[in-house]
Amino acid sequence: MATQSVERQTLLQGFVPPVHRPRRLRGSAVMRELVAETRLDVASMIYPLFVVEGRGVKNDIGSMPGVYQWSLDQLAGEVREVESAGIPAVLLFGIPSHKDEWGTEAYRRDGIVQRAIATVKEHAPKLMVVADVCLCEYTSHGHCGVVEGGRVLNDPTLELLARTAVSQVEAGADMVAPSDMMDARVRAIRQALDEAGFNETPIMAYSAKYASAFYGPFREAAESAPQFGDRRAYQMDPTNVREALKEVELDIQEGADMVMVKPALAYLDVIARVRDAVKLPVAAYNVSGEYSMVKAAARLGWLEEKRAALEILTAIKRAGADIIITYFAKDVARWLDE
Ligand code: PBG
Repeated sequence: MATQSVERQTLLQGFVPPVHRPRRLRGSAVMRELVAETRLDVASMIYPLFVVEGRGVKNDIGSMPGVYQWSLDQLAGEVREVESAGIPAVLLFGIPSHKDEWGTEAYRRDGIVQRAIATVKEHAPKLMVVADVCLCEYTSHGHCGVVEGGRVLNDPTLELLARTAVSQVEAGADMVAPSDMMDARVRAIRQALDEAGFNETPIMAYSAKYASAFYGPFREAAESAPQFGDRRAYQMDPTNVREALKEVELDIQEGADMVMVKPALAYLDVIARVRDAVKLPVAAYNVSGEYSMVKAAARLGWLEEKRAALEILTAIKRAGADIIITYFAKDVARWLDE
């Protein structure tokens, strides 16, 4: 051993020690913290919640450990917890007990999500309530719009989305987030909100939303899997990034107040490009499949959950996301407190 290291040294005779040693800034936890370029905090996180009809319901979602479907009476306690964890906002998804071809329950005054909005406002008044605007949880065919002859029709869907957004804001939503990917939906929703007197309510547009395998677990949670075909005729093709910039630009022209990239982890390049291209806040959705992968690997003992999750969320921030929508938000609040 000793002889070996002597030989090594002779190999480097005349070696000039470096002036620059980046390791100097990595030597202690205090120093690393001092020079950290990216910081995670729950103040920029949004926590998604799924609400269902009934009483006393807290349904497990098999593929998303720690995430539940809540009935309204149970939701009350949950949102108080979210609020006291310092998480500023929730994103609500409603799962109605009755679905039809036109997703009627999405825009009923006393629909499940409208009542959920009121419940959150009542029990956690400091929480900002963001309502997801889409039809797929409400339609019998599971598509995000009006279906005719096996196709999702764009323009007839706009009216239903606009009605949905208005009814959510009437119920008390602080912001609406259209996730359907119909063309011109931001313009339609902006116009409808303004006409209903809600010109101060912002729109967070799911601008660059890709047709992704990573939504799999969500569709179990939201009971929204398409009954035929897939969503590739309206959600974006994962091969494209210039097209994401086009979608973002259109949404901004149409009146979006924030734009979103979704999913996040496999699209960090898209987040970075969008961040560079726009002045608006950029949100990224750390989607269900990204959450489930970490949970599953952690259960198998293959990954350290806390480190893996914080590393992924840090990467999403580093890529340029101002806001992260994540099922880990409550865990992060706990972890950052430890
Ligand atoms: C509804 C919607 C979806 C997600 C958010 N809103 C699913 C989809 O487009 O199929 C996915 C969220 C997630 O996977 O966590 N259109």
